[in-house]
Amino acid sequence: MSTHHSGVARAAESIDGARGERKRERSATDAVGRATAFIGIAFARPSTIGAILPSSRHLADAMARAAAGAQRLVELGAGTGAITEALCRHHPDVPTSAVEMEPQMARDLRERFPQVQVHAAAAHEVLPDLQCRPGPTVLISSLPFRSLPPRLRLRSSLAIERFLIDHPARRLVQYTYLSSVPFHTRLGASLRWRQLEVVWRNLPPAWVWELSSNAAAHESGAALATGAAR
Ligand SMILES: C[S@@+](CC[C@H](N)C(=O)[O-])C[C@H]1O[C@@H](n2cnc3c(N)ncnc32)[C@H](O)[C@@H]1O
Repeated sequence: MSTHHSGVARAAESIDGARGERKRERSATDAVGRATAFIGIAFARPSTIGAILPSSRHLADAMARAAAGAQRLVELGAGTGAITEALCRHHPDVPTSAVEMEPQMARDLRERFPQVQVHAAAAHEVLPDLQCRPGPTVLISSLPFRSLPPRLRLRSSLAIERFLIDHPARRLVQYTYLSSVPFHTRLGASLRWRQLEVVWRNLPPAWVWELSSNAAAHESGAALATGAAR
């Protein structure tokens, strides 16, 4: 390569490097902005936010891995989009919807993820409309069942159960901050919780769970009885 060409190549590399650096800085600044906004909303509405910080990248990746094989994804309580981002990265070709009842968060999600259909509503209002969609849908949920007001908690869990019961290939992936099942099932005698993994690199550490009526899950030694824990 001539001196001129290698000089041009080096200049192009350094421009690319500088652009990459700027992009990383911008995304770090955006993440800090989202976390700050999240903390503000969490203080104002602790029971429906149910967390002190957005999900870590490690938790988001664990949730996205647990959705392997989905033909459709529905994220419940998408918040700042930490898990939405991982879902889009791990499953770029899977049609994805996100449900978030905080209007400002839903607006931000729409702007940041134009490929995701965002519903600014409560989960129990949206799930019945998604019942008729075919194929194995995986629900990916950050809904804070332990802190939600009792009425909203019951409506949310019943809507999820109805959605799962309708189609045995459907499942819910849900995380909790305690090692006991996220909620007690009431409708689906065939539904079972299964603990998938613990993510220590999250604040606080999180347990990833799956709820399904899948026979393989029942046979697993990890499957827990519906009323096992609180
Ligand atoms: C733990 S936070 C979000 C965590 C999210 N993974 C993140 O990193 O931002 C739970 C979210 O669920 C939303 N939420 C709570 N109850 C809901 C419901 N019934 N329907 C839809 N969204 C709900 C809250 O507004 C909040 O944004």
